[in-house]
Amino acid sequence: MDPIKMRIARKRSLTEQIAEFALVPVDGTSLPSFTPGAHVTVRTPSGAMRRYSLVGGTEDPKEYVIAVKREAESRGGSASMHDEANEGTEIEVEPPENDFPLTEANEYLLIAGGIGVTPIYAMAQELERQNKRFNIIYCTRNKDETAYLDEMTEAFGDRLLIHHDDGDPDKVYDFWDHFAEPQTTHVFCCGPQPLMEEIKAISGHWPEGRVHFEDFKPVEVVRADDEAFEVELSKSGASLTVPADRSILEALRDAGHETVSSCESGTCGTCKTKLIEGEVDHRDMVLMDHEKPDHIMICVSRAKSGKLVLDL
Ligand code: FES
Repeated sequence: MDPIKMRIARKRSLTEQIAEFALVPVDGTSLPSFTPGAHVTVRTPSGAMRRYSLVGGTEDPKEYVIAVKREAESRGGSASMHDEANEGTEIEVEPPENDFPLTEANEYLLIAGGIGVTPIYAMAQELERQNKRFNIIYCTRNKDETAYLDEMTEAFGDRLLIHHDDGDPDKVYDFWDHFAEPQTTHVFCCGPQPLMEEIKAISGHWPEGRVHFEDFKPVEVVRADDEAFEVELSKSGASLTVPADRSILEALRDAGHETVSSCESGTCGTCKTKLIEGEVDHRDMVLMDHEKPDHIMICVSRAKSGKLVLDL
């Protein structure tokens, strides 16, 4: 389908780092409807394409509402939305798609981490409309970084549990009690990769199809013809093999190394690592040309051939 030409009708700050945009069609035509969990792909003012979940009403929408977090070290997509997209700015938007649809269930547990709240909020509104039983656990660093805090508290009352960890790994929410015994509840989770990995790990004994994740990782992160390669960690002298179907970051994590990441799709800049030796197949959208000879984004990029030596 062709992209829709849209105009930013409203822009408001939800937190210091998160802005909400309401988009209306430039020519006033009606917009394709969508279901909760859907996203649109937006051509941001920088030219980079970015996926954003849709917030708000789904039936006969008059506008599309998205919330955009300024990603750390972003020089492209999210930063350009914050800095260059204002009321009146026109942008192209690809029609909604949904890889994270609600399923039929008697009860739901919705889990959001940070900006991952956007599809979760849309789902909660729909479940409320359908009079379904649901609870939400919404994890953020602190109150000031919690988008839609007042709206959601007012709408969902004690069905909403907000947890702040102050960025301290020792204070992350302990989900185990919700997962110890498999339930008929359907779980929907959207948030940073570490949160989703945690929920995947503790729900491994649940029947298939009960726990659903929104995963914005583009398929190109791992391509069909990718091959395994070696990575040497210069600080520890350790070596590991990155399998054909895993990223360097995942292979490090699998091997028990501590990793720091956020988007895991080559867009945020968090996993930037110094390259000491080797030829890199750069697949990220953050590194500037002059950084490429001696840096690598380990969540998406791989070895062109042979081995890479990283400053880890
Ligand atoms: S984790 Fe975001 S670029 Fe790698």
